[in-house]
This record gives sequence, C-alpha cells and structure tokens, in this order.
Amino acid sequence: MITIGIVGGGQLARMLVLAGLPLGLRFVVLDPAADACGAAGAEHLCSPFDDRAALDQLAQRCDVVTYEFENIPAEAMAHLAAQVPVYPKPQALAISRDRLTEKNLFRELGIDLPAYFAVDSKASLEAVVALTGLPAVLKTRTLGYDGKGQFVLRTAADVDTAWQQLGKVPLILEGFVPFDREISVVAVRSRDGEVRTWPISENVHQAGILRQARSMPEDAFAQQAGVYARRILQRLDYVGVMALELFCVGDRLLVNEMAPRVHNSGHWTIEGAATSQFENHIRAVAGWPLGSTAAQDHAAMVNFIGAAPTSEAVLALTDVHLHDYGKAPRAGRKIGHATVHSVDRLRFESQLAQLKSLADAVAC
Ligand SMILES: Nc1ncnc2c1ncn2[C@@H]1O[C@H](COP(=O)(O)OP(=O)(O)O)[C@@H](O)[C@H]1O
Ligand SMILES: [Mg+2]
Repeated sequence: MITIGIVGGGQLARMLVLAGLPLGLRFVVLDPAADACGAAGAEHLCSPFDDRAALDQLAQRCDVVTYEFENIPAEAMAHLAAQVPVYPKPQALAISRDRLTEKNLFRELGIDLPAYFAVDSKASLEAVVALTGLPAVLKTRTLGYDGKGQFVLRTAADVDTAWQQLGKVPLILEGFVPFDREISVVAVRSRDGEVRTWPISENVHQAGILRQARSMPEDAFAQQAGVYARRILQRLDYVGVMALELFCVGDRLLVNEMAPRVHNSGHWTIEGAATSQFENHIRAVAGWPLGSTAAQDHAAMVNFIGAAPTSEAVLALTDVHLHDYGKAPRAGRKIGHATVHSVDRLRFESQLAQLKSLADAVAC
C-alpha cells in the first residue's frame, strides 16, 4: 500500500485524493486549516506548513510527497525532501514561486513571453514604464494568485497609486498583452521521463479569476504550447502534472506563467479525458505508467465563484457533473465547479450556456 502526502489541503488536494482512492492509495494531507476541504478521505495533519514536527510526521507516514499549492516555504520543502521523495522536485516550486525567476527560465529556454522588468523602487518603476509604455501590468513577484497582487497601469497617474498599493515587496512590470484568447496546456511527466499533454484548454478570466475553461482538441496553437511545456518539464526533470498559461495574440503565442501542480483549467479532464490530470499526477508521483490523455467528446468547465447555484439546478441539466468542494461561500473564493461533457455539439453548447448563466447569476 502506497501512502502519498499532499502539502496543501484545498480543492486540488481533494480531487487528487478522489482520483487516488480507487487506485488503492492512502493519503495524508498537511494543511493548517481545521476545515481543509482536501482532507476529506485523507488523514489530516493540521499544522502550519513550516512546522518541523508536522513535516517530520508527514515524511515518516508517506512513501512520497507532492503539493497542490505554490506558496509553501522553500525551507519546509527542503526539510521534507531530505527525508522522503518529493515530486515535482522542490526546484520547480522554488523557480515558479517567484515570477522573475520563472520568466528568466522561460527566456533561457527560448520561450516567447511578454516584456518584463524587475522593479524594486519607485524610480525603477518609472524607468521601466518608459520602456514598456502603458498600459502595463505591475505584479508582486511572489504570493500572487487569482489576480491578487496585480495592478494594471493605464495612465501616468496610476504609477503613483500602484506603487503605494504594491511597493512594499519586490515587483515585476510586464507589458500589457492585448490578447485575443487565453489558453493553457496541462502536461504530465512520469518518473522515467515520458511526457503526455492533454488537449489545450481555452480559458476565460474575469477580474483575474478563471471562470470557464473548454477543451480545444483541434486548436492551432496546441502544438507550440506542447513544445514549450515539454522544454520546461525536461529542464526541471519534472515529475507530475504542470500547467502553462499562455496568451494568443495574432499569430504569436506568449507564455504567461506556469503552475507546478494540477490546475483549474484542467478540471474538465475528470469527465472529458480518458485519464484526468489528477489521476495522472498520482500515477506519475507513485511511479506508475501514465494513462491516456485523449479528449473524450466536447468538454468544458464552469467555476462557481463566491457562491454556487443550488445542486438541484445544476443537476437538472443533462450531461453536467457537479463538483462541490465543501467550502464555505466567500466573495471571490472558488467553492466548486461543474463540467459539461457531451458527444453532441449542439446539446453541449446549450447545456454550457445554461450552466454559465446559473453560475453568473450567483457569482460574487
Ligand atoms: N501582461 C498581461 N497582459 C494582459 N493581461 C494580463 C497580463 N498578465 C495577467 N493578465 C490577466 O490577469 C490574469 C491573472 O494573471 P496571472 O499572471 O495569470 O496571475 P495569477 O497568478 O493571479 O493567475 C491572466 O489570466 C490575464 O487574464
Ligand atoms: Mg494565472
């Protein structure tokens, strides 16, 4: 019996556990929140991420440890990795938790990306705004998620406001990308180096939060996105699932960011692919063969943000699958999602539109 440790106990941990239980695996989840939704179906170590004693316990109880959350202190991961195999290797976490080191890696690997500059003073912000022009996006280098820690500079007066809001921590300024579409590629690499990618996902964000993701098996950018993902996976000797977010602008494909974990834009793979991102992540970290990533029919996912429609309303739709994370509703919080999955294109579009309007009516 293999026991897998997961650092972080949110919905991603929950869906990893749900994917791993049928494979006969056991899970221990480390998360400081007593009501961590990812601990359902797992043993819960309820401690801060940097609690050495809890990390020691996790290492002792598990054959392998993974994580579902980027912002784990690097020292905590190093402490764990000295005692138990950790996949993806903590190096991936160290690079991707800082937008600057992440973008430097992309550049080094010949991956196209928006112009970016480190910012560490108001004078340096003014200097680099002159280089990018406006609009531009100011972001904290670490700890940002769901659009938090970002400011879109549109006018010269915004420079001052943005600096007052974000200037206490190291920053990065990016050129604003007038993208046509946002896509992501979710990829998995096994312990012996095999890489598979799912069909790319087309993503719609509002206020920096993902609202909808749809499988796009025929997309013209899929091949290039896959090439970029493979380059990163190979360089990092990566094991597990990784997601790459990209902007399509004209005929250019620019990488936005990577996530060293299963990703919200891949939730449709639970019903819409032969093997889900969660199962393949588990297979990879357990050292098992990967499953097929082929898409099955039309699939899309709609997030429930802040509040969810009633389960009755969602389940009354055909070809719709509900995933309620068991989290307390709170504005801006991802509390669940539903997937539409169908062979029939017209029915798929109509069910997706209905699901989207149910979600939009209550989102906050
Ligand atoms: N340089 C940019 N140009 C245009 N839009 C951007 C840019 N950077 C981010 N965004 C928008 O904000 C969203 C969130 O930004 P992202 O860098 O992915 O941060 P997070 O870590 O919060 O997901 C993106 O999905 C995109 O919609
Ligand atoms: Mg993002």
